[in-house]
Amino acid sequence: MIGSFPITLPLSIIKKIKPKLVYDPFLGSGTTCIAANMAAVSSIGVDISPPIIPKFKTKASVTIIKADSRSVKLPQKGIDLIITSPPYIGQINYQDKFVKEEIGSAHLGTSYKARKKYAADMIKVFQNALAYLTPKALAFIIVQDKFRLLDPQASGFRQIHRLTRKVTRVRGIKRGTYFESVLVWQKA
Ligand SMILES: C[S@@+](CC[C@H](N)C(=O)[O-])C[C@H]1O[C@@H](n2cnc3c(N)ncnc32)[C@H](O)[C@@H]1O
Repeated sequence: MIGSFPITLPLSIIKKIKPKLVYDPFLGSGTTCIAANMAAVSSIGVDISPPIIPKFKTKASVTIIKADSRSVKLPQKGIDLIITSPPYIGQINYQDKFVKEEIGSAHLGTSYKARKKYAADMIKVFQNALAYLTPKALAFIIVQDKFRLLDPQASGFRQIHRLTRKVTRVRGIKRGTYFESVLVWQKA
């Protein structure tokens, strides 16, 4: 599963890296912040469409902000780990109300122009985060990036790993085999 990824993924990353402050610029249903809180780690999550705030289990702080992650001002510095799954390109309108601010929304499609815009928007999201990151901060990015639109260098990072797996979806209109990746970046 990507998009809303299973909680075990961010949880295992957080347990391994042992960060002090986690950030997800595309929080969605809140998986990253829930996982961080379960591991008693503070977190910040941003999404253009407000997530439903769940009950948190530990006292670790969770800050959820409804904003555009290309330009959001975060309340804190010292983020040493980003875990996120960016929006797909040209597949989903998450909420009609916020569709103009959504990156990669379905109505824009996947034309050359739409891909250029998506790539530029993703650079803005990561560049906007840079000022809040520790010097060696890591980013784990879970993507189904058929078009390879993410650019670590232009985003202010370097890619240190790329883990790819083949996934077969057996039901629904998007049946078929595709690839999903976990990109691991480090602040350059
Ligand atoms: C693939 S989903 C993330 C799912 C999330 N990992 C989860 O567990 O639910 C991508 C999210 O990006 C959000 N989004 C799209 N454009 C955005 C923007 N400009 N700023 C902030 N969030 C945005 C969408 O609202 C959507 O919730």
